[in-house]
Amino acid sequence: MSADRSWTVLELLRWTEQHFSAQGIENARLDAEVLLAHALGTPRLQLYVDFEKPIAQPERAVFRELVVRRARDRVPVSQLLGSREFWSLELSVTADVLSPRPETETLVEGALARLPDRDAAYRILDLGTGSGAIALALAGERPAAHVTATDISPKALQIARLNADKLLLSDRLRFLEGDLFGACPGEQFDLVVSNPPYVAERDRAELPPELVHEPEVALFGGDDGYAVVSRLVAEVSSALSPGGVFGVEVGHDQTERIAKECGEAGLEQIETLRDLARRPRVVMARKPGGQQETHL
Ligand SMILES: C[S@@+](CC[C@H](N)C(=O)[O-])C[C@H]1O[C@@H](n2cnc3c(N)ncnc32)[C@H](O)[C@@H]1O
Repeated sequence: MSADRSWTVLELLRWTEQHFSAQGIENARLDAEVLLAHALGTPRLQLYVDFEKPIAQPERAVFRELVVRRARDRVPVSQLLGSREFWSLELSVTADVLSPRPETETLVEGALARLPDRDAAYRILDLGTGSGAIALALAGERPAAHVTATDISPKALQIARLNADKLLLSDRLRFLEGDLFGACPGEQFDLVVSNPPYVAERDRAELPPELVHEPEVALFGGDDGYAVVSRLVAEVSSALSPGGVFGVEVGHDQTERIAKECGEAGLEQIETLRDLARRPRVVMARKPGGQQETHL
């Protein structure tokens, strides 16, 4: 990207797309567009209207820096922008939290389908809340619910609190620090959800380079990936009210084992949900007893 010639929006996009592709970046064109729009301070679609517009040198310098950090350092776009959209909520993200992923919306959908009364005062627990993505999405969709969001990482909780404040949801959210259910001992909930760390340490070498920018504690679940999630499943029953719902996101090759472990933990109505790419990603289950919803 030479500094001593003039560049139009379209030329810059083409150059950057090619550069990103050559570096093995998957969504090269999309990343180029999102970063250029950010550098120019315009909505992404405005770029299409402005294709022939020349870009001023100061904005090009900002863009160039973003391109270098994306291509050379493999910093995820969400961290370059400082935000990520999840469930139509604009969430702040930093290197202290996992950038929420679209597949996690499958867990939110599955949970909402099992808590169908929009106005009920459900008690909800999101374990390992990170940016607060799941907790905030659920709080937004169930305006009378009380949501507890926990994390073992105090830095993650700071970001989650910030997001709750920005979205004006703080009054119905409680943030607690601790190891799994140790954050809220003895409490019971109508819904427990979690997207715990489930990547196997032994797969570390094959992971996309972007993941080095995300917190290890958010990613790795011990050597085989099950260290946190299996403990979570084994302990969840005592944190559920009778008839309470449990939902957990795991890797696409982990749902079978986790569904089996849910059965061993005494849960029933065990189902596996698929993400948009049709991969099995979420296991939902229910604690026996209580007044169960029959809408499913
Ligand atoms: C995969 S990230 C999920 C973040 C967020 N819920 C989301 O879906 O985008 C896992 C989160 O669990 C937290 N975590 C890891 N081990 C934990 C533990 N033993 N107890 C509580 N939280 C834990 C991490 O700090 C991280 O924020």
